[in-house]
Amino acid sequence: MLVMLIFILVSVVSSYGNNFPIALPNCDDTCGNITIPFPFGTKQECYISKQFWVTCNHTAYDPPKLFWWDTHIEITRISLDGQMTLLRSIAYDCYDRTGARSSNFTSWINLTKYFTVNNTGNKFTIVGCDAYAYVSGDRLNRNFKTGCTAMCSSEAELTDGECAGVGCCQTPIPRDAWRIQIEVSSFYNYTEVSEFNNCSYAFVAEESAFKFSKDNLTNLADVEKLPMLVDWAIGNTTCEEAKKNATGYACTIDNSECYKPVNGYGYRCRCNSGFEGNPYLTHGCIDINECENKTLNNCTKNEYCNNTQGSYTCSCPKHLDGDGRGEDGCKLAAKKQNMMIAFIFIGVASGIITLLLVVILLYMELKRRSQRKKKQRFFLQNGGQMLQEKLARREASSDMVTIFSSSELQKATNNFHSNMIIGRGGFGTVYKGVLADRRTVAIKRSIRVDPTQIEQFINEVVVLSQINHRNVVILLGCCLETDVPLLVYEFISNGTLSSHLHNEAKACALDWSTRLKIAAETAGVLSYLHSSASIPIIHRDVKSDNILLDHTFTAKVSDFGASKLVPIDLEQLSTVVLGTLGYLDPEYMQTNQLTEKSDVYSFGVVLLELVTGRRALNFDKPIEEKSLANYFLSVLKQDMLFEILDEKIARSENMDQISLVSKLAKDCLSVRGEDRPSMKEVAMELEGLILGGKHSWARNNADNAEEMESLLSNNPDGMRGVSSSVGYDSISRDHIVLPINGGR
Ligand SMILES: *[C@@H]1O[C@H](CO)[C@@H](O)[C@H](O)[C@H]1NC(C)=O
Ligand SMILES: *[C@@H]1O[C@H](CO)[C@@H](O)[C@H](O)[C@H]1NC(C)=O
Repeated sequence: MLVMLIFILVSVVSSYGNNFPIALPNCDDTCGNITIPFPFGTKQECYISKQFWVTCNHTAYDPPKLFWWDTHIEITRISLDGQMTLLRSIAYDCYDRTGARSSNFTSWINLTKYFTVNNTGNKFTIVGCDAYAYVSGDRLNRNFKTGCTAMCSSEAELTDGECAGVGCCQTPIPRDAWRIQIEVSSFYNYTEVSEFNNCSYAFVAEESAFKFSKDNLTNLADVEKLPMLVDWAIGNTTCEEAKKNATGYACTIDNSECYKPVNGYGYRCRCNSGFEGNPYLTHGCIDINECENKTLNNCTKNEYCNNTQGSYTCSCPKHLDGDGRGEDGCKLAAKKQNMMIAFIFIGVASGIITLLLVVILLYMELKRRSQRKKKQRFFLQNGGQMLQEKLARREASSDMVTIFSSSELQKATNNFHSNMIIGRGGFGTVYKGVLADRRTVAIKRSIRVDPTQIEQFINEVVVLSQINHRNVVILLGCCLETDVPLLVYEFISNGTLSSHLHNEAKACALDWSTRLKIAAETAGVLSYLHSSASIPIIHRDVKSDNILLDHTFTAKVSDFGASKLVPIDLEQLSTVVLGTLGYLDPEYMQTNQLTEKSDVYSFGVVLLELVTGRRALNFDKPIEEKSLANYFLSVLKQDMLFEILDEKIARSENMDQISLVSKLAKDCLSVRGEDRPSMKEVAMELEGLILGGKHSWARNNADNAEEMESLLSNNPDGMRGVSSSVGYDSISRDHIVLPINGGR
């Protein structure tokens, strides 16, 4: 490795050095470190003509010095492009303090017409504060003379770097000057400026070699010589004339050309482009190997470069396509290859993207399918098929229950957003929703249906949806595609009776006649459902929370039979029934059965709420007042009804009606179910009160007792309401009044 590295280094160095001959064979081509290119030479057989004779003095100088001809004019550089640098002494004119003059005030040089003073690189310069100088001489066949003056009165006037007439003066010289002579002198022999200046200096020198400084007024005396740039050329003829005279033509025949220099006589030679070397020597111009140096070729890589005589070509490796000949071809091929790579890259990238898209689409489709399947499963699980069959069987019915899709309801409730919740209770959550047809609905998400009671649930949905009574919240339909069935009801705008009664502000709006109307309407609808609806339906959960009010305070009873959907695990019972507790039929504790008379009991509690404005259960009251029903009965016993009346309605004109309603409530709250009036009787009584009629069950209780007894005795099981619906249709009443835990 090291050997190879050294080899490469050496070859590189040698390729940059001048490895071509610059002098004729057996001729010195250097003098010290100054090269002597042909046409210059130190011996007769080494130069082209006497004018190019130089001598190298080895004996007097070490390192040796080169001189023009056998003169003392020293040469410091000769270049093949037609220039050389000579050293010239400075002309000076001085007076010492005693007034003695010491000067070499003239300086001249005759360069012959083969050499001329370069007029762009040199300047005529004088330095002094009481000085003038001339430069004169010959240019081609004419004379010339030009000069400069430099004055100053104090050293302070001088500025370093500025040569503009104060202490220093510079002027260009004309072109083609081959003989020059300098004269320097003073105007007043320095008498005015003797304090700081007693010499003047003048020289023609390379402009770059002199930069004026104040010190130069004195220190130029120590400087012997300054460089001057000289142009050289061959002969005194033009290229064309020289070529005609073949024997004297100086340029080598191969790979060189002749050109006219800017200055002076004669002609010069130079190698053709792509060649280097000495154009004055035969075969002196050598091909440049452009392939060795990246800066000389513009092939994509040095390896693709092929050197030719005077030029080079770029060829491209096989994989860059066969047509990649020449530099551009190669670049084209490289570009093509890059483009190919780009295309492949784009192709692969778009392939991956497409694949990803496909995977995503596939995943979404699968998810959609699984969701559909899930919906289908829920639908079946929730008795959807059963419901469909039932609906098919009763095509004729116009008030058919609608089966909503889950997406429809999701849209209606803004994906069941919490903003849309209008109620939360033991039986589930109620959302407000707006269907696509702009209908506002209440959507109830109940608790999971007991799988053993699906059929019953479906029956109930069908039956409830058929109830069309102005005091019932209409069940519009259901959605069975979710894990928990959703029931869709008509939306009632004004909230629950409970919220009105137990809100101080709202309660004022509920005057006695409104309360009486609400009670009558509620009783009416319960009675209708118990006896006159197509099948008797027990509400099971009559309470002020389930009586809704619309904007005209018309009562709308909701949640028929809903309680039946509730599983009866004891744990859950406690939470579910908490709100219902104050209304619960005490008989239920023994029988575990809810009957029409249970509804009557619960309705009695609602009557008490209307009369007293108190809650059915008051946890923050003393123990004897906790249950409104019990408290009321005890108060009634003590004949202190007025104590618990709602003061908002306790006016003398109402008192008659209030005491009648209280009596009615007392009957409804009888411990034994059979002691309670039927819902129909309660409804009639209340309607009678509103009409101001005298026909009242409560008042005529005694008169009617006989009749009632006979009615009861006609009923072997003593349960009127229940018996009236035996054998009804395929939807057995058993399903409707089935005890909550009946199946267990
Ligand atoms: C004056 O200059 C000439 C060359 O121009 C030189 O030969 C001569 O020796 C110089 N004289 C003195 C006194 O330096
Ligand atoms: C001019 O003076 C400066 C400052 O001392 C010096 O560096 C410079 O070499 C002088 N110029 C010449 C040509 O001697």
